Amino acid sequence: MKKIMKNWKIRLGNIEEFKDLCGELHCSIDAIEDVSILAEPVKIGNLTVPNSLAVHPMEGADGDSEGRPGPLTYRRYKRFAAGGAGLIWVEAIAVVSEGRANPKQLWLNEKNKDAFADMVKQMRQAAKDSMGDGHNPVVIAQLTHSGRYSRPDGTAKPLIPQRDPYRDPLIPEEKPSEGRESKVTNECIITDKYLDDLQTAYVKAAKLAFEVGFDAVDIKSCHGYLINELLASRNRKGKYGGSFENRTRFILEVIDKIHNELGEDKVVTTRLGFYDAIPYPYGWGVDENDYTKSDLTEPKKLLKLMAERGVGMINFTIANPYYNPHIGRPFNRPVKDAYSSSEHPLKGVKRLLDLAGEIQKEFPEIAIVGTGYSWLRQLMGNVGAAAKANGNAKIIGAGRMAFAYPDFAKDLLTKGRLDKNKVCIGCSKCTQLMRDGKATGCVVRDNKIYGSTTI
Ligand SMILES: Cc1cc2nc3c(=O)[nH]c(=O)nc-3n(C[C@H](O)[C@H](O)[C@H](O)COP(=O)(O)O)c2cc1C
Ligand code: SF4
Repeated sequence: MKKIMKNWKIRLGNIEEFKDLCGELHCSIDAIEDVSILAEPVKIGNLTVPNSLAVHPMEGADGDSEGRPGPLTYRRYKRFAAGGAGLIWVEAIAVVSEGRANPKQLWLNEKNKDAFADMVKQMRQAAKDSMGDGHNPVVIAQLTHSGRYSRPDGTAKPLIPQRDPYRDPLIPEEKPSEGRESKVTNECIITDKYLDDLQTAYVKAAKLAFEVGFDAVDIKSCHGYLINELLASRNRKGKYGGSFENRTRFILEVIDKIHNELGEDKVVTTRLGFYDAIPYPYGWGVDENDYTKSDLTEPKKLLKLMAERGVGMINFTIANPYYNPHIGRPFNRPVKDAYSSSEHPLKGVKRLLDLAGEIQKEFPEIAIVGTGYSWLRQLMGNVGAAAKANGNAKIIGAGRMAFAYPDFAKDLLTKGRLDKNKVCIGCSKCTQLMRDGKATGCVVRDNKIYGSTTI
């Protein structure tokens, strides 16, 4: 696709300027001066998140070949912990080696569990050293299988529930448009037996995660990875495809099995993609006649079933970073050779905030962690505080903002504002590092470590 750079208006100096921009774009988003509401604790089952701010899972591609956290992984999580957020959602951690998204992705297993235990211990110490003895953030392990984006040895080894004309041609580095066949073939389709065994692998990884000190586990179901794709596998035959009951079987049974084996009190959550923005029948949460519109009927039905199983928190997200990245991660500049967003990024932010709000209002008993705030730069806390005050999210999460500004929460909680010289600027350079197979972090604000990039 031809790359056309757009110069989006970014007027985020103060709330008044922001409201003018919202008015010009016919894109109303609330923002308030007083962010003190973000200091409120949030209860989730037997856990208390000490404030209403979260660090979203942000993969650094800096583990070792055995899946252990490496020196940059330790550095990132100690900085996040010291940064004061009440909830630290640790990045995608593979449950099986063939499901790793890259050879540096974390992978939790019996042989390397001590390294994870050490990292979580060091995180807790860093949080206390920075925020005081009473500060104990909730730390979550995001358990994953990368599905069609599996690259365990650095080359594409897709594992898919069904063929998909939209996503099949887009396996990174295997673009048919460059004269090569897509890596996706019928042989990549996984069997029901594979999925049965994978459920056991999730339960095993969950057991290890609690053992090494995580407070909760996330059965990751978003961004086009395996479980997210299963939710839309309407063309798949057998017990994991076709009907709503079959498509949601995998995730619901994993939750049940974790509770049965480890105890009902164990906090299980999911980062759930609510809207794929990929045409029906391949997309989940999409309007059958117009995939540019969401239809949350099925995601809400799933949420109700999760709530009945005691799931008390959901990390809200949408879309697929390889297919339609501007929808889940509004940016000013795309990665190399990618399309430029056709909509102003603020419209993307509004979509993320409004959909999360719709869910939070309908499920007040579940704490929704909101996503999509990083593009707002120094107004992230002001928009987040308004979202919380208006009942649109109980916890406000930061993804790229945490890479750029790991102590964003501490500044919001102690100074009531963010420093404009430390915020994320939505340049996509961190994503470029990941696409290039390099250790990933903020090229702009953490330049000494992550300074070499190709865009
Ligand atoms: C480099 C990079 C790595 C990411 N890694 C993960 C991940 O491991 N798990 C996940 O659920 N989301 C991941 N995300 C998505 C973010 O958590 C977040 O949803 C997204 O960046 C939008 O939020 P933001 O506007 O606050 O950045 C990643 C995003 C980027 C840019
Ligand atoms: S490189 Fe830094 S400033 Fe650019 S998008 Fe990533 S986190 Fe934000």
